[in-house]
Order: sequence, then C-alpha cells, then structure tokens
Amino acid sequence: MRMFDIIDKKKHGLALTKEEIAYFVKGVTSGEIPDYQTTALLMAICFKGMTDEETAELTLEMAHSGDEMDLSHLSGIKVDKHSTGGIGDKTTLILGPLMAACGLPVVKMSGRGLGLTGGTIDKLESIPGLSCALSMDDFFKQVEELGVAVASQTQALAPCDKKLYALRDTTATVDCIPLIASSIMSKKLASGSDAIVLDVKYGSGAFMKTREDAQKLAEIMVAIGTHCGRRMDYVISDMEQPLGQAVGNSIEVNEAVMTLKGQGPKDLRDVVYQLGAKMLLVGDIVATEEEAYPLMQEHLQDGSALAKFREMIQRQGGDPSFMDTEELLPLGEFSEEIRSDIDGVVAKVQADVIGHTALDLGAGRATKDESIDPGSGVFVYKKVGDPVKKGEILAKIYSGSKEKLFAAEKECREAFLIN
Ligand code: URA
Repeated sequence: MRMFDIIDKKKHGLALTKEEIAYFVKGVTSGEIPDYQTTALLMAICFKGMTDEETAELTLEMAHSGDEMDLSHLSGIKVDKHSTGGIGDKTTLILGPLMAACGLPVVKMSGRGLGLTGGTIDKLESIPGLSCALSMDDFFKQVEELGVAVASQTQALAPCDKKLYALRDTTATVDCIPLIASSIMSKKLASGSDAIVLDVKYGSGAFMKTREDAQKLAEIMVAIGTHCGRRMDYVISDMEQPLGQAVGNSIEVNEAVMTLKGQGPKDLRDVVYQLGAKMLLVGDIVATEEEAYPLMQEHLQDGSALAKFREMIQRQGGDPSFMDTEELLPLGEFSEEIRSDIDGVVAKVQADVIGHTALDLGAGRATKDESIDPGSGVFVYKKVGDPVKKGEILAKIYSGSKEKLFAAEKECREAFLIN
C-alpha cells in the first residue's frame, strides 16, 4: 500500500477502505508517514469529506493507537461528558462535583487550553497547589472514595490524534466534521467510560458556526459511540456569546464556585442542568430527565455539591480556603472597566472576540508550550438583550501585565454590538 495512492483516491472523492485507514493511522502513529503526506490527506478529507463508515473506522483505529483505559473495576456506570470547546465553558468544574453528589461517578480526563478555547486542567490548576497529574492508582482511588476526579489526559491516550491535531491546528484543517468527530470520539472511547454525554456548541466561539452543523456533528458522534456499545446523548448549545460571565482561569473557577453555591448566571446554570439531566439519565440514577432537576437542585441547595468540590481540591493537593472568602481566587493585579459609549440594547457579545481578548490578556496560550497567567481574564457584565446606558460597565478585564491590559482594551470593546 502507498500513501500516494490513498491521497489520490481521496482527492477524487472516493471512500477509503478499512485497510487503507488502518495503514494511515499506524503510519502516522509510528512516524513512518511524513507530515507532508499526512496533511495532504487531511486537506483532501476537508474538501471531499468521509462517509459515516470511514469516519467510524478512522475513530476506532485512532482509539486503538495507544493506551485504552479499563474502568470496569470501578463500581457504577461511569459517565463522561465532553464539550466541543467554547468560551467561558466551566461546566466540568460544576458538573463533576454535582454529579458525584447525586451518586454518579465521574472519571474525567481533560485537556489544557489551546488557542481561543480554555482547558479544564488550566482552570483547575489555577487553584493554589492543585495538580491534575494524578497517577492512575490515585485517580481510581479518588473516584471510588469521593465519586469524582479530574486528571490531565495522558500522552499515551490516542497518540495518533495528538499528532493529527497538531498538524490540523497549523494547516487550517480543524473545522471538518469527520476529523472533529473522529478526534473527539477516539479519545472518549479510549478513556473507557460506559456512557458519554456530548455538549456540541455552535456560534462565533465554536468550531461549528451553525446549529445545523452542530447537529450533524452530534449525530455522527452519537452513531460512532452507539456502534461501539456506549450509551450516548447530547445537548446542542449556543456559543454566539460567552457562557456565563467569566472567561479566563481563576475567574472561571470563581464563577463555578458561585454556581455550586446556588448562584451563578442563568445561561450557565441552564447548560449545567441540561447536561446533568442527561448524565444522570444515561447513568441510571434517574428514570426520566424531569426527575433529575429536583435532584440536582437539592444537592446544590444543601451544599453537598460544593462539599464534593472542596474535597476534590484537597485530595488533588489544592488549598480550598479561597472558597470561604468573599473575593474567592485573586485576579490580575491590573484591571480596566470597559464602558458603553451609547445608550441602547446589547445585540451581540462576540464569543470569539472575547476569547481573543482573554488570550491576549494572558489567560490562554497561542502555542502549546506557552505558560498562562491564571488571574487574567474578562468578566462580562452585559449580555445579549440587556439594556445599557452610556457610561455603564460592559466588561472588566484583568491581567498581570499593564501592557497586555492596555493592548486588549480596544479588542474587548469591539466584542460588543449595541443598537
Ligand atoms: N476537540 C478535539 O478534541 N478535537 C477536535 O478536532 C476539535 C475539538
């Protein structure tokens, strides 16, 4: 078999065989296929697409390209939740402890942020002392004893995806449904959970720009997971504007804590409830989604979800004392309020522009080796539909660097469209 022929076949819009896909995945993983041939095939897939069968084969081969976790020794149905990435998405920080409080074990492997979208691991590690680099033994022990653990994804999980993703990221081949579906589902299948609930986002701050494309992506991922014997469900959620008000790392942890205290912004609570209801349903904790809502409310109100988060922080080496202070985690030393120049109603808060602002303030990394400034970020005061008066605060930006703060100010203002 020759890589040249595989590229040529896809270039002409033909479906690849199971053997050809296996040859490609093995060659990428071992390093035998050079990057220029890999990226040529990725680009051909972007233009010509893949059938559902090809996408499923690619996913399975990628899932088998490295370690595969066996969670069968842990009790209960293990449910994973995956978001396709967004701005201000801190749902895992809330759902992990909330689901554990409701009796559903959560075994979560997460990633770091890259580009516009933040990563759960960076957010959690903005808590002093906390580490997500858990040994497998500690990870499993914590799930058995506490019901929730969040660890960083090991390098050995779906290594083919790591190579492909790094190439896609630099060759404009990320936004392609079969490639996104196989990338996400290969890692989910290798992570070993019994059930997976997907949060597929659409809008300016998401890979999928329209609801229709998000629906298509969700359906393909559900079909792959179901074919592989996983219980699957999904939520389609709006990422035209940031989720909640906080975008960054420490600032998002603070919003997650407020939400676990029964407060927090409504749009964030709504997505948490929708995802949580599906997780509890596929995890057999409730018989209907309707039953899940009062259960989640009870565990937010009685403080048990917050207590799970506190214990998770402690067990992972962190200091949870910030949760008892009014200011919570400290934010960047320098801050600036962005105020409206006119009276009107907020028509848009462009999620991608707010994401860029947070990145420029120091909250994210443009390349995977950069470090982040945990206290930097954006707090959005006005969301779509809110009336605003001239001089009122639209957002507040935080950074550890005065220069970065100054540079991000104009960009943050441009995220808001007021009519
Ligand atoms: N998240 C992933 O893990 N892979 C993609 O391709 C896109 C989002």
